[in-house]
This record gives sequence, C-alpha cells and structure tokens, in this order.
Amino acid sequence: MNAVIRGTGAYTPEKVLTNADFEKIVDTSDEWIVTRTGIKERRIISESETNSDLCLRAGQNALDMAGISAADLDMIIVGTVTPDYNLPSTAAVVQEKLGAANSAAFDVVAACAGFLHGLSIAHGFIVNGNIRRALVIGSEVLSRFTDYSDRSTCVLFGDGAGAVVVEAEDGAAPNGSGVLSSYLKADGTKTELLWIPAGGSTKPLDENNIKSRERYITMSGNEIYKLAVRSMCDAALKALDKAGVSTDEISWLIPHQANIRIIEGVAKRLKIPDQKVFLNIEKYGNTSAASVPIALDEANRKGLLKKGDYILMVAFGGGLTWGASLVRW
Ligand code: COA
Repeated sequence: MNAVIRGTGAYTPEKVLTNADFEKIVDTSDEWIVTRTGIKERRIISESETNSDLCLRAGQNALDMAGISAADLDMIIVGTVTPDYNLPSTAAVVQEKLGAANSAAFDVVAACAGFLHGLSIAHGFIVNGNIRRALVIGSEVLSRFTDYSDRSTCVLFGDGAGAVVVEAEDGAAPNGSGVLSSYLKADGTKTELLWIPAGGSTKPLDENNIKSRERYITMSGNEIYKLAVRSMCDAALKALDKAGVSTDEISWLIPHQANIRIIEGVAKRLKIPDQKVFLNIEKYGNTSAASVPIALDEANRKGLLKKGDYILMVAFGGGLTWGASLVRW
C-alpha cells in the first residue's frame, strides 16, 4: 500500500506588505531585508479572515485537483501554531467549513515542521490500512503574533496556507509514487530560542504580559540559523537513507522558506544544485507550517514535478522541531 499525493492547493491572503512598507514602520531597509533573508514581500490576513478560512481555501483547491469531495475524507490534519482557538482544533473548524462529515480532525503543533509531521502521520495511517484519504494542511496567521515594533522578527513572517490530499493506492509497487519515508525530530531543551512566552495556560494573557510584549514571537535569530542548517541537513540525509535514495537522485528540494541563506546552506551541504531548489521566499516570507505545502503546490502547478521524480521536503522550526519527507511523484 502506498500513500500518494493526489492533489495540492494553496491560498495566500490578498494584502501584500512589502519591504518598502517596513521601511516606514521600523528602522530597516529593503537592502538589509533582501540580503539577509531573501524576502521582498509577504501576505497578511485581513481583519475578517481566520486561519480556518485560509485552510478552507487551500484545502478546497487540493480537493479539486484530487477530484474528490470533502465527504470522501477520513482525516483532516492541520499543522499550525496560530490556531483559530485554543479549543477546539482548527482542523475541527475546517471540517465543518468543508463539510467533511466523515473525517477525523486534529491539529499538529510542530511549528514550521508542522506540515511534514502531518504528512508523516497521514502516511502512517494510510499504509497501515486505517484510513484511505487524508487532507493535510499547513496554515498560519503569524501576523497576529508578530511584534511590528521588533525589526529583527517582524520583517520575516507572513500568512498563508498550503494543503495536500493523500490517498491510499492498493497493490502499488513499494518504489512507486507516494510518500517513501519521513524523519522527524525535536529538541525541547531549546524551546526559548523561538517561542511565544505568554497566551498559553502557563502564562495566560494579562495586562502585564501584554505590556511586556510576551504575546508575540520571540526569537534568537542567530542561534536558530545555525541549528536550522545543521538539523535540516541531518533530517534530509536520514529520510533519504531510510528510502535508499541518494541526494543526486533528487529532482527537487522543497525546503521550508525561512531564510534564503539557510536554504542555500542546506543545499550546499547536501550538494544539491541551485536549479533543483524550489524558492518562493521572496513573495511570502516565512509562513511557518504553510511554507512547504505552498511551495509544493506552486511547483506542482507550474508543471515542474514529473511522474517518478524524487521530491525532498525539509523543515525546521520552534520547539525545536524539524523533519524531512521524501516523496516519489
Ligand atoms: N533591519 C535592519 N537591521 C536589522 C534588522 C532589520 N530588520 N534586524 C536586525 N537588524 C540588525 C541587528 O539589530 C544587528 O544590529 P547590531 O549589530 O547593531 O546589533 C544586526 O542587524 C545584525 O543582526 P543579526 O541578528 O546578527 O543578523 P543576522 O545576519 O543573524 O540576520 C536574521 C538576522 C533574523 C535574518 C537571521 O538570524 C535569521 O534568519 N535567523 C533564522 C530565523 C529563522 O529563519 N527563524 C525561523 C526558523 S523556522
């Protein structure tokens, strides 16, 4: 049994925040942002939209491409750290909005690696014969947790959602299309390098922590940067090793779009040439769990992914969490 990606989808909000816009908000420059991060603009959700609205649009696009209806889904998984509510899961809200009456629904909290965790879970449920069809979404509204007075973080993040429909294929050859392997890892000893200190049950929001800006994303950029390169390479090699595929067989590396220098560092260490690395960071910035599935959908809709291609996806984020998945298209 294989778990095959039948459809991809993405949705990003209409509102664009450019580097020039940030020059008016904080002490920064287009030149600094582009050279340090590769980001030129990012999308920002409107006041009336929610995370689950983004999920709905991306999820529906993936269902349309797969040619199945929401009622055919057995499971909806949403990777997100910016849910609609603490209770219930965003996936439950999405289930209602999609009308996916026959599915289970839950969120996965693994920051920027959330989509790859979700994909790996769906893969496991499918190959074990427990379910046939899953919708895996990565979706974030980071703008609502971004401190727009902190120039070291606010220029990095954007909002959006990406999704895939994964379906069981009976009797498929083990080396046929589908998810071949995944590797997931965490290091909870470094939580405070990238986190939102207040707003959970440990430190519920109050006047003091709102004033001290602890409700926003706090990050030690430099340390995260180094760990990201090392960990993403390690995860990529472990996922490849599990599947018995070498780096030179990879057709596309679809990395988490956090920083162009991190991506270049990963590709260089893995000896994957630039032309095999998919990039869209300049348009969306870091959309956390949404970044890999948005990039996958864009590559797919551009016709870049050919049957039989090995696609390597890799991500790193808060937790710390990281992982990689190898898919044969
Ligand atoms: N505009 C202008 N200057 C800025 C700035 C901005 N937006 N943000 C920070 N700076 C300044 C700093 O204040 C610092 O100034 P100082 O030397 O006077 O103190 C200087 O730029 C260098 O800061 P530093 O943090 O060393 O820069 P950097 O080269 O490490 O780049 C990041 C900063 C955030 C772009 C980089 O560390 C990074 O991308 N880290 C990983 C972040 C990430 O991807 N996180 C998510 C992982 S999923």
